[in-house]
Amino acid sequence: MKKASVTLDKAYQIGRIDPRIYGSFIEHLGRAVYGGIYEPGHPLADEKGFRKDVIEMVRKLNVPVVRYPGGNFVSGFNWEDSVGPVSERPKRLDLAWFTTETNEVGLHEFADWAAKCDSQVMYAINLGTRGPEQARDIVEYANHPGGSKFSDMRIKNGAKDPLNIKLWCLGNEMDGPWQMGHKTAEEYGRVANETAKIMKWVDPSIELVACGSSGSGMPTFGDWEYTMLSECYENIDYVSLHRYYGNPTGDTPGFLARSMDMDEFIRTVAAICDAVKGKKHSKKQVNLSFDEWNVWYHSNQQDQEVWKQGKWGRALPLLEDVYNFEDALLAGSILITLLHNADRVKIACLAQLVNVIAPIMTRNGGGCWAQTIYWPFLHASNFGRGTSLNAIVDSPVYDCADYVNVPYIDAAAVLGEDGSVTVFCVNRDLKEDYELEIDLRSFTDEKTQKSLQLQEHILLHNDDVNAVNTEENPDNVRPAVGPGGAVDGGRACIRIPALSWNVLRFVP
Ligand code: AHR
Repeated sequence: MKKASVTLDKAYQIGRIDPRIYGSFIEHLGRAVYGGIYEPGHPLADEKGFRKDVIEMVRKLNVPVVRYPGGNFVSGFNWEDSVGPVSERPKRLDLAWFTTETNEVGLHEFADWAAKCDSQVMYAINLGTRGPEQARDIVEYANHPGGSKFSDMRIKNGAKDPLNIKLWCLGNEMDGPWQMGHKTAEEYGRVANETAKIMKWVDPSIELVACGSSGSGMPTFGDWEYTMLSECYENIDYVSLHRYYGNPTGDTPGFLARSMDMDEFIRTVAAICDAVKGKKHSKKQVNLSFDEWNVWYHSNQQDQEVWKQGKWGRALPLLEDVYNFEDALLAGSILITLLHNADRVKIACLAQLVNVIAPIMTRNGGGCWAQTIYWPFLHASNFGRGTSLNAIVDSPVYDCADYVNVPYIDAAAVLGEDGSVTVFCVNRDLKEDYELEIDLRSFTDEKTQKSLQLQEHILLHNDDVNAVNTEENPDNVRPAVGPGGAVDGGRACIRIPALSWNVLRFVP
């Protein structure tokens, strides 16, 4: 068996983990809303038409924030269409996804749904076809107690108390030419600054996310961040990062190394934020919101077919990627990367949550099930709370097309409030199991000399990287009990199977 090690010390801390890094995303796109979270007439729909089986699966993921209502959709969206009596809401052409938006589910309904999931709404405003005025109006509508045009409109629409939305996105992917109302960095930076100012004048307690690049592969990446931040640095709180990965050539080692790109992307954007801070002689630190991340490529061809059969339908089955086992491993490494960067990444959203590039799938009128990527997200969200530790990993490495020195063993560690230590670990090796030594000596109780004990080894493994879950076979890829190992004198020795996601829970 090959060997690797992880050295931990309770004094070597990256930072407190903001629970919002376990956020997700629901866009008015495909069957995310209609046929996903909302399906009146379904046997499991509640009195408001929301599927209770879906709510239960979302609640298990423990998602603190859900970004809404887009995505590309938001850049052509009028928020006023989504409030008031449902029968009076207009049907609109959605030019982002070439479907018809009926507005049956709007702001109030979504806020109700999020509350049922114990989640907060992270609301994106339209800075594509609209601007500061409509942004000001919706903050007044959502958060002002009453006695003004829009707050009174909210009360009339049934919400006496403010919706209290604390986190707002200043548009979506405004650097992308595909975006309605696409802008240059200067144009966007100016409008983001003016919009941010007046939104905060309405409610100073809100936090704002400015659009960074829609991917590190964009030709404007870097320059976009520097230029737009030069305009709006003092009035915003976070910069967004978006990144999707794919494996169209079936190169598993190369695909599993993609989290290194994500790490590089995060470090570069943090450095640009700090460069602008320096240029401005500012005391303020802008942090990062990685508010779209996932694997996205399986459904590309199928989407072209859907549109060929006719545009402008309601809830077309778009972006319905069926995730395989290797996608779950990359999702695990992405979560590890977010933990490594917990000092700068304060918000992150798995894009998306239901049916659309999602961990949860539904059939209209039928069941719902967990895709492979559901599992690492569930584990990280439930066990990855507390303080991110600096895990020093010593592992054999490999080279692939885009990266050199990729460690076979990828790991992060979290110190819980209760003194527990959870190690998340991906073995990228296709063939070899590893004997992983974890140095936990610094966590030994000084009085009793008792060291941490391994309470649980959760393992996600499949011999086939292409294995998927379906409605008929929902448990094909699901967690099992791992082989575990021994802890002796504060040193754990654990077997980590080839191609696997592992959660090692050590308790006092
Ligand atoms: O999540 C799907 C789409 O990906 C979003 O609408 C957009 O922001 C991104 O390009």
